[in-house]
Amino acid sequence: MQDVWTRVDNYFGDLLTPTDDKLDAALLANEQGGLPPIDVTRLQGKFLDFLVRISGARRVLEIGTLGGYSTIWLARALPEGGSIVSLELDPHHAEVARANLKDVGVLNRVELIVGPALDTLPVLEKTAAPFDLIFIDADKQSYPQYLHWALKLSRPGTVIVADNVVREGKVIEPDCDDPNVQGVRRFTKLLAAEPRLSATVLQTVGTKGYDGFALAVVLS
Ligand code: SAH
Ligand code: DHB
Ligand code: MG
Repeated sequence: MQDVWTRVDNYFGDLLTPTDDKLDAALLANEQGGLPPIDVTRLQGKFLDFLVRISGARRVLEIGTLGGYSTIWLARALPEGGSIVSLELDPHHAEVARANLKDVGVLNRVELIVGPALDTLPVLEKTAAPFDLIFIDADKQSYPQYLHWALKLSRPGTVIVADNVVREGKVIEPDCDDPNVQGVRRFTKLLAAEPRLSATVLQTVGTKGYDGFALAVVLS
């Protein structure tokens, strides 16, 4: 099936996210910088754009910047005056992201914070919260803690999106020894148990294979 998923992704991608030299240049810079090719796909980027627009988000938090590809999609969808805080552990990833964001012309709307997100999130509680949309996409082992912080940094109506919750279907294997899978399973359990959230999961296929997004809205 991978072949048809890729061709369909390219079909809709070509129609709905036409050639964008700046985005292509960012992906090339990531590759040249030795970053792993684990950015969201272009149609997934357009999905993040959609979420920002329908939620009317002005303040976005991203956990896991990599080279800033998803950050660019989020930033471009923001209204005038909107801004993003993006958290990244790896200084080299952050450096590549900074250059990409500058080249695309959105660095002025992005605050990049380098360090382990679990160390930087508590600072945001005092300085930058609440956020209107929170995109969780860093190390999967810490997804449960990221959900905890997302709730702390939210308000009723905040949209919480988490990438990579399906993991080629491994999520349904309770005894899977992959810590990423265990992180996602604990995250999903918390989502389900949290009365302040209404949540669902959207399974996805495409050029990156089979995965999915968890989508939640803060109720109260
Ligand atoms: N959102 C990006 C992809 C992020 S990949 C995009 O779609 O374009 C995951 C990123 O999370 C990597 O860059 C990795 O260095 C970062 N990361 C891993 N552990 C982290 C941590 N503890 N705190 C912050 N970032 C972390
Ligand atoms: C991985 C991380 C991601 O954020 C992603 O979208 C795909 C893969 C990974 O760590 O393997
Ligand atoms: Mg991801």
